[in-house]
Amino acid sequence: MEPVEIAVIGGTGVYRADMLEDAAWREVRTRYGAAEVLVGRLEGRSAAFLTRHGKGHSAPPHLINYRANIMALKQLGVRRVVATAAVGSLNERMKPLDFVLADQFLDFTKARKNTFFEGGADGVVHLDVSDPYCHEVRSVIEAQAKALGMPVHQGGCYVCTEGPRFETPAEIRMFRQLGGDLVGMTSVPEVLLAKEAGMCYAVIAMVTNYAAGISENPLSHAEVLEAMDTLSGNISRLIMGTLSVMPAEASCGCGNMGERFAKMMGEK
Ligand code: HPA
Repeated sequence: MEPVEIAVIGGTGVYRADMLEDAAWREVRTRYGAAEVLVGRLEGRSAAFLTRHGKGHSAPPHLINYRANIMALKQLGVRRVVATAAVGSLNERMKPLDFVLADQFLDFTKARKNTFFEGGADGVVHLDVSDPYCHEVRSVIEAQAKALGMPVHQGGCYVCTEGPRFETPAEIRMFRQLGGDLVGMTSVPEVLLAKEAGMCYAVIAMVTNYAAGISENPLSHAEVLEAMDTLSGNISRLIMGTLSVMPAEASCGCGNMGERFAKMMGEK
């Protein structure tokens, strides 16, 4: 089978992949478990779509098998990933229904497998995350969003919490003092695993609400879903536009890390 160049990881509210033509679901088995991936074509290129939480949103953020998801994409040959994630905002400039292309994160997760390299035969890897989210993919998304007239912010610090609960207002005040702009539950370890695997990775954070204590109302998953529903047309158009102009050749350097990973995969 021809390698799949590019993939979308759809977060909460992004389950439709009707942007892909000739698409078929495939179960991709990896040594970390299986992932269901929709493989099809977009503008003549091979592309894949994976729903982060599984079909029917069955896995909560802290129980997602991030390694199986990323490994499945790697096994298909994917080199560039555009992910979506619903987030709360800590920054008044980043309003509900805006898109933010995160460029940094603060990791407040607690119990997740956050590396493929677990010592022993796999070796030990201390990943460089000076530039966690691929700047080349981020610029392509930004240009597309602007061309489509959508509100987009280039750069923002994503605070990743363990979930599945929302945050306390005190936590949100702390995250703001630390420099956080957005809060969500999924970008870590996904971004790290993609980087270890040598894939370009960027996330389109979709602001669904102001975070706890900033918002006057209690938070609810229903509120998040309602905002996602409003955003669904725009996110589909943004993703389609982005994939269709994404350069096949990368000059960002994200692929360099992949050599160590390929060696580890080959040894198994
Ligand atoms: N907190 C954490 N995750 C979220 C939020 C939030 O306020 N909104 C959407 N995902």
